[in-house]
Amino acid sequence: MHFINFGGLMAVLVATQFLFVHSCGPVPMVKRQGPAPTKYTTPQTKVAIRNVRVFDGRRLNRPATVVIENGLIGHSKHERDADQVIDAYGGVLLPGLIDSHVHTGSVANAETMRNYGISSAMDMGCTLAPSDCDALNVGVGYPQIKFSYDGAVSPFGASAKLGLFKPNSFVTNASTAAAYIARQVTNNASYIKIITESPGLDQATFNAFVADAHGNNKKVMSHAPRHDPVSESLTAQVDFIHHSPTDKPVNESQVQQYLKQKVIAVPTLIQMLTIAGTGFGNSTYPPARDSVTSLYRAGVPILAGSDATGLHIPPNLLVPMGISLHQELELLVEAGLTTVDALRAVTSLPALHFGLPDRGVIAPGYRADLVLIRGNPILNISTTQEIERIWIGGVEFNPFNRTISTVPCDGGDNEED
Ligand SMILES: *[C@@H]1O[C@H](CO)[C@@H](O)[C@H](O)[C@H]1NC(C)=O
Ligand SMILES: *[C@@H]1O[C@H](CO)[C@@H](O)[C@H](O)[C@H]1NC(C)=O
Ligand SMILES: *[C@@H]1O[C@H](CO)[C@@H](O)[C@H](O)[C@H]1NC(C)=O
Ligand SMILES: *[C@@H]1O[C@H](CO)[C@@H](O)[C@H](O)[C@H]1NC(C)=O
Ligand SMILES: *[C@@H]1O[C@H](CO)[C@@H](O)[C@H](O)[C@H]1NC(C)=O
Ligand SMILES: *[C@@H]1O[C@H](CO)[C@@H](O)[C@H](O)[C@H]1NC(C)=O
Repeated sequence: MHFINFGGLMAVLVATQFLFVHSCGPVPMVKRQGPAPTKYTTPQTKVAIRNVRVFDGRRLNRPATVVIENGLIGHSKHERDADQVIDAYGGVLLPGLIDSHVHTGSVANAETMRNYGISSAMDMGCTLAPSDCDALNVGVGYPQIKFSYDGAVSPFGASAKLGLFKPNSFVTNASTAAAYIARQVTNNASYIKIITESPGLDQATFNAFVADAHGNNKKVMSHAPRHDPVSESLTAQVDFIHHSPTDKPVNESQVQQYLKQKVIAVPTLIQMLTIAGTGFGNSTYPPARDSVTSLYRAGVPILAGSDATGLHIPPNLLVPMGISLHQELELLVEAGLTTVDALRAVTSLPALHFGLPDRGVIAPGYRADLVLIRGNPILNISTTQEIERIWIGGVEFNPFNRTISTVPCDGGDNEED
């Protein structure tokens, strides 16, 4: 089944009484013709940002100078021959934000992410042709996007019945699993995504699927928004579990299995809260939040992902691009993360777990992906939304037209984590 316009999507979703919402699977996408994206080049000028408090990916430090040169962070001693000096008046500089679960869909959406300081995005389902997905990676000055391309799914589950998947995404047994994974390897997928639902794949096929992906050196991302799919994903030995159960929280034996198998959690609480708000499928928010609380307390790595699509699905389903990642940080803190761990969840931790060694940290030699904010995010996580300046690969943006405040964010000594 093909969707040629947005209206088609609406009709299907409404007709299926939000089954899609229930499973929060991928969204159909349509390639659109629009104006060609703006081309940027790496600036050759050297910029020094002075009097800035750096969250280096681990902790917030005392005021210092950060130098940007050739799209990278330079040594602060290079400040003396800077072409441009910016006084940040004690503002806070964050590494460019990394969204660990997004459905980019369009260059316009990539631009919206950029305007909220997101310089890297882990796309968890792009139903365009792989070359059209790749084209969403515009280049210098745009977010860098990694792709699973379209996810694997059982043809017998609720998601596939909506017609949102192409038949070559269907996995039924070990041989169709191998064919699917071989295709994603050829497409250069960064990781393998699978929809876990009941009814869905039988456990033996799921296990074979994950073993095949690992044999091809690919990590497996499981979409598991309910309690039972979490167990099936753990049994199959997936690497990352995305979403958080809206029916029944994870229990202690599941938590221990996450730890033992070193599974990473990407709870996408903003999506779970949004789905619970639709009132569909008996989904409620507290189990999703409580699952994060248990996983975090036990020491399971938690990454910030929004599951943003930017699509408004009536009556009230919308996870907007960009801002939703900041809302996710607020929800993670509400679920018990310290503000420092919420900041790590959107910078250094995803860089570590997705294998992106050139970002997530502010230090010489790393990509100059930077977000200058007003306010102290250690005291108040919501201040990540007070964006004054953004640099992506050294290209500067000022999407909110804010002038750098001359008012220091606070007088206190809050450098420690
Ligand atoms: C696997 O499933 C495919 C498609 O459903 C089918 O054609 C094939 O015969 C099955 N292979 C085995 C070994 O069962
Ligand atoms: C996958 O990557 C290889 C090596 O970089 C490249 O030669 C090939 O063209 C890529 N395939 C696709 C489909 O982009
Ligand atoms: C946790 O949940 C799983 C899956 O529902 C179940 O098999 C297991 O017995 C539960 N463990 C505890 C300690 O409740
Ligand atoms: C919601 O819960 C009710 C009562 O337990 C049940 O009858 C109904 O089937 C559930 N609906 C869905 C969509 O799970
Ligand atoms: C936290 O920051 C937000 C965004 O600047 C602001 O609206 C809110 O009032 C602050 N909360 C507190 C308790 O200061
Ligand atoms: C910022 O300024 C530009 C140029 O004047 C304008 O096009 C844009 O709409 C402004 N953006 C906001 C968020 O005010």
